[in-house]
Amino acid sequence: MADCMQEWPEPVVRVQSLAESGLAAIPRCYVKPPCDRPAAHVDAVHDDDDDISIPVVDFGAGDDDDVGLAEAVAAACRDWGFFQVVNHGVKPELMRAAREAWRGFFRQPLPAKQRYANSPRTYEGYGSRLGVEKGAILDWGDYYFLHLSPAAAKSPDKYWPENPGVCKEVSEEYGEEVIRLCERLMRALSASLGLDETRFQEAFGGAECGACLRANYYPRCPQPDLTLGLSAHSDPGVLTVLLADDHVRGLQVRRRDGHWVTVQPLPDAFIVNVGDQIQILSNSMYKSVEHRVIVNAEEERISLALFYNPRGDIPVAPAPELVTPERPSLYPPMTFDEYRVYVRKNGPKGKAQLEALKGQSITENNE
Ligand code: OGA
Ligand code: NI
Repeated sequence: MADCMQEWPEPVVRVQSLAESGLAAIPRCYVKPPCDRPAAHVDAVHDDDDDISIPVVDFGAGDDDDVGLAEAVAAACRDWGFFQVVNHGVKPELMRAAREAWRGFFRQPLPAKQRYANSPRTYEGYGSRLGVEKGAILDWGDYYFLHLSPAAAKSPDKYWPENPGVCKEVSEEYGEEVIRLCERLMRALSASLGLDETRFQEAFGGAECGACLRANYYPRCPQPDLTLGLSAHSDPGVLTVLLADDHVRGLQVRRRDGHWVTVQPLPDAFIVNVGDQIQILSNSMYKSVEHRVIVNAEEERISLALFYNPRGDIPVAPAPELVTPERPSLYPPMTFDEYRVYVRKNGPKGKAQLEALKGQSITENNE
């Protein structure tokens, strides 16, 4: 297990280089089985998703301890696990600057990026696959992954791109502001379950919570109906705050009835989703939700995902206040460090990874 995480199981091919080579058909290793292709679940009734959308939560109206805000968050988490946040306090100029800095990175010639090629050991740097399963069907996307906080876990300088020159500074400032938003979201989430508003933050490690940034780059794809930019998955951490592309859609969320709904991002909004750790801590009152990314033949797409994670070494388990004889604890305690090794080995697998942990110990799964 430790060994297979040192290197990728096959030579890494940059999806961007495939897209730019002008090929008419995608290589077989990107062709999804028919049940996983974008059109698999579309039927006559649900073909037009335009009138269905994830909820919008306004963080600008009233105070953070506002009952209305907690109620809006509660409804959004119960019904969808995904929502857009407006009036969130992060400056639109900073959001744009961060997105454009990363667009600038991906637009550089390949050799300038290859020096940051990542390995499955830490994932930090420039990557083109998730998971180390040999022969896996791959996703049509490249990414760049970094640790932002806590300070002790922050990616060392060698992992940060030198170009564009503003990339590091802008990403750091962006990270600080989005982490502040995560802390506000945590208070609202806690309150929305009737808990003390600091309860969630404390359970996940207080000021030592982790944050990672992944810039996702989805090149144009000559056969978008056969593949995905990112396979269906739930996010392993606490919360994800996504800054989507300002004009190209691609994120799809799986609704309760199994249908995929394409998100239409509002201007200057963030898309927030509940991760697996909230499902664990809330004893499944709030569920992490599957999502995926579709690609298209006309335009590339970029997104910035900030993953807010528990401190790596503290066991996370259902909050005792949310465990009752009628609703017994569903998950064994586990640290995020353990959980992350498990998820990283397997790559995106819908919600199968969290489901598999119900009632058993994570060490069994890492063997
Ligand atoms: C992710 C993710 C969605 C997107 O990075 O985990 O779900 O739109 N990204 O890129
Ligand atoms: Ni995700």
